[in-house]
Amino acid sequence: MHRDEPVKRAAQLREVIERHNALYYQHAQPEISDRDFDALLRELQDIEAAHPELITPDSPTQRVGGKPLEGFAQIIHRVPMMSLENVETKEKLLKFYEGLQKKLDRERVHCVIEPKVDGVAVAVRYENGVLKYAATRGDGSVGDDITQNIKTIRALPLKLPKTGPQTFEVRGEVFMNRKDFEKMNAEREEEGEKTFENPRNSTAGTIKSLDPAEVKKRPLRIVFWGIGDQGDANLSSQTDLHDLLESAGLPKADLIWECNTGDEAISVIEALDSKRHDLPYETDGAVIKVNSVREQNLLGVTSKSPLWARAYKYPPLQAETQILDVDIQVGRTGALTPVARLAPTRLSGSTVSNATLHNFDEITRKDVRILDFVVIEKRGEIIPAVVEVQTAKRTGNERVIHPPKRCPTCGAPVIKEESLVVLRCSNLTCSAQLMRRLEFFAARRALDLDGIGGIVAKSLVESGLVKEPLDVFTLNPAQLAELNLGTEKDRRVFGKKNAARVILAIETSRKLPLHRWIFALGIHEVGASTALELAKHHSTFRELANSELLADVVLESKLEAERLINSPQTFANKTKNAHEKQILKIRESEIREKLVPVRKRLANVKLNQIGPVAAESVLAYFSSEIGRATLNRLDELGINPTSSGSISGSNGVLEGKIFVLTGTLSSMTRDEAADKILAQGGSVTGSVSKKTSFVVAGSDPGENKIEGANKHSVPVLNEAEFLKLIGHEAVTQPPKIKNDLFE
Ligand code: IVH
Repeated sequence: MHRDEPVKRAAQLREVIERHNALYYQHAQPEISDRDFDALLRELQDIEAAHPELITPDSPTQRVGGKPLEGFAQIIHRVPMMSLENVETKEKLLKFYEGLQKKLDRERVHCVIEPKVDGVAVAVRYENGVLKYAATRGDGSVGDDITQNIKTIRALPLKLPKTGPQTFEVRGEVFMNRKDFEKMNAEREEEGEKTFENPRNSTAGTIKSLDPAEVKKRPLRIVFWGIGDQGDANLSSQTDLHDLLESAGLPKADLIWECNTGDEAISVIEALDSKRHDLPYETDGAVIKVNSVREQNLLGVTSKSPLWARAYKYPPLQAETQILDVDIQVGRTGALTPVARLAPTRLSGSTVSNATLHNFDEITRKDVRILDFVVIEKRGEIIPAVVEVQTAKRTGNERVIHPPKRCPTCGAPVIKEESLVVLRCSNLTCSAQLMRRLEFFAARRALDLDGIGGIVAKSLVESGLVKEPLDVFTLNPAQLAELNLGTEKDRRVFGKKNAARVILAIETSRKLPLHRWIFALGIHEVGASTALELAKHHSTFRELANSELLADVVLESKLEAERLINSPQTFANKTKNAHEKQILKIRESEIREKLVPVRKRLANVKLNQIGPVAAESVLAYFSSEIGRATLNRLDELGINPTSSGSISGSNGVLEGKIFVLTGTLSSMTRDEAADKILAQGGSVTGSVSKKTSFVVAGSDPGENKIEGANKHSVPVLNEAEFLKLIGHEAVTQPPKIKNDLFE
């Protein structure tokens, strides 16, 4: 490439990528598929990796974030970030409006009303048209620098259009849509990761996360509602702000009202109340603001909040019911979660019969007892929570709920976690834990042991046939066929046909690629995508267990933390005297030296998504008793999963090859096919271009894909040819059955 070419191409790509970003997020009119978009981004990333000097802070690649941070830098707010005073009733809202009329001495006070999005407040500053930083509210005067995290929000422009103001600081709310939140939680559950309680909590946690790779996976969004430092914006009203947001491509709430009387304000609040449940995000209220900046200034502020605005809060969705009993659920990792069984009751459109009690500390704090009448509430979470006990309704028959000293399933002693909140069953062979581990092991994204779902897993464990997940490899068809899924009295056997299918699934799983096996082991912090990445860099379990690469990831993070503690530049060391700083500097440079070879080694490997926490967890697992036993057992069973991906830096078989999948494949789903391609170093895109290497066509292929292949002379593979290419012999499998035959 000519010396100028990467410069030109990078600039061109940046423009194209941001244009597609705006088309997607601001105009909801995407012109290219997500995969094509990712391909453009990857091309830019590759150029920047080869020419780091070309990276600019407004490059779309900077949305992806860099390395995990050790801590947040602090940002002083030019204009304090205040909060709002709440009004809980319509009467109080009318009183507020009357107060405005009086103080401004006019009948009609022009106000705007916006939804109060339930999220986390942030300030975002643009300077000379470029996003400069983003900060949390903090204590109102100083916040955390969360620029790296905020840049992951693709709807947020990194650059402003040249036509409007170039320097100002806008303020808004970061949040998650209900649907995105639920999808993320479901995926986390499937991948064995902790789920979040509600969109607000997970937004707050994400914003303060130090690991940009993790933030990237979370569906953050933003709407702006205010301005801090005006810079060259010169706004004279809140309506001006809305216009600025519109023309600058900065997201704002879809619903915005204006009103000129108290009654109009009440009508707006009521109109929003009837619409807010259909909004994609949680809205717990409405914010009413005096429109004119001149009038805002006349009204002034208190030490905490402006006198020209109020937050009207809708009463939360609550219902009253009785706790009939409390069950304790034992999770895959032994965590004990108390769940209240309720007298069924209606709450915001659905019948609720369970409520989470989160943990035993919460039970004590709220003094919840069995048979208590309680108020339950939905605050965005999927399962409602118990808010408070109606102690006045107690009859004396209520039963106190004691934290268990022993596991309700196996009777083993319970241990309290370091966090002092989670109680765990201490017995790794506890049948409840084992059941959940087996269920996870057999799940679709793990070993896909079709037919082994919750009920079958329970019977396998209870019958003693399975004492650890790998025992399924010693099951024989006769044992399985006789498995009783019912009770002693009312027997329901699994049956020969089902047994044969499960045995086939078990045998097939022996040959599954390494990443599926890594995932199936349920190692903490290792979800499906981490497992895939681990398998790209390690070819066998033994290699993974002794991974120098992972050891380097952990070492680098430890050294970097040590370096920061010793750096004279770090915020905490700023007040040290010259002599102390000198000593720190020497220490820092010693650590830097140790870092050099580690970083050099890591620079040779394109490692994505594996941070020090996951790396440490994997190494800890394989050096634990259970990890070592698992490796030995796999050897005994003759199971040695391998990865055909790029092993320790060498290229995968399909490295650089771009696939387009169309139609239905008979041996696997398109997702599974894509997984296989990715695992071998290839990539999959949504539409055919001259860069496409192969189109894989199942039955009923898309016409435009085939036309595209013809137009660009791209070879079209049928299923058998594709299987051959990826090294899979076509296997004739019976049709898929539901994951648990009797559920
Ligand atoms: S205006 C001086 N407008 O709610 C503070 N705030 O309870 C001006 N919020 O701190 C805030 N939507 O974090 C404003 N449309 C909106 C809002 C909004 C959500 C948040 C914001 C604020 C809190 C007050």
